[in-house]
Amino acid sequence: MSIHIEAKKGEIAETVLMPGDPLRAKWIAETFLDDPVCYNRIRGMLGYTGTYKGHRVSVQGSGMGMPSSMIYFHELIKDYGVKNIIRVGSAGSYQEDVKVNDVVLAMAASTTSGMNNSRFLNSDYSPTADFELFQKAVNYAKEHNIPVKAGNILSSDEFYGDDPEEYKLWAQYGILCVEMETAGLYTIAAKYNIKALTVLTISDSLVTGERLSAKARENSFTDMVEIALAAAIS
Ligand code: ADE
Repeated sequence: MSIHIEAKKGEIAETVLMPGDPLRAKWIAETFLDDPVCYNRIRGMLGYTGTYKGHRVSVQGSGMGMPSSMIYFHELIKDYGVKNIIRVGSAGSYQEDVKVNDVVLAMAASTTSGMNNSRFLNSDYSPTADFELFQKAVNYAKEHNIPVKAGNILSSDEFYGDDPEEYKLWAQYGILCVEMETAGLYTIAAKYNIKALTVLTISDSLVTGERLSAKARENSFTDMVEIALAAAIS
């Protein structure tokens, strides 16, 4: 076991889907995987391994924000030999044409986090998605007529910022939406030479103030999970 995951070696698949919410990990495992087995309950951060169309896949909650999620990314890679991490989560739209329920593929992740500032002193690093996983996700979405948007997103350290207008600067520079984990994921994936991709569903809009209910959010996550699983196994 690692510090925060109690699975034995071999109990976690090489490919892991990672929602922030551990209960969403449970929902994904029980809805989409055959024979899911729970391998982690430490801190309630549930993790499951099962099969999807005959391929072994795990689903692991990451918690919210980079400080939490980086712990799980790190231990999965270093202690369990994970080779592909696909984050699935929700995001807030920064653009008028990115609407609630839309699926967004994160090609790159800008960030307000200090994590990469301390890693790359006085310089900027551009955390980017793995091209192969990205291409597979795009191909699946095209084949199944699921509209997706793709581009640069923002990984923020704060859900509740001070200034409701702050998003406009990022929006002007083409940022599609905001979440809280991907810049950390893409950075650590690059460091350890594994593949990573983030697939998001828009749950709220900073432009219109619209917000999905918890129930509607669950339903709209199906397209996102199917895209992520297709990228995971193909
Ligand atoms: N995830 C979903 N909506 C978000 C928002 N508005 N800010 C940060 N993360 C989010």
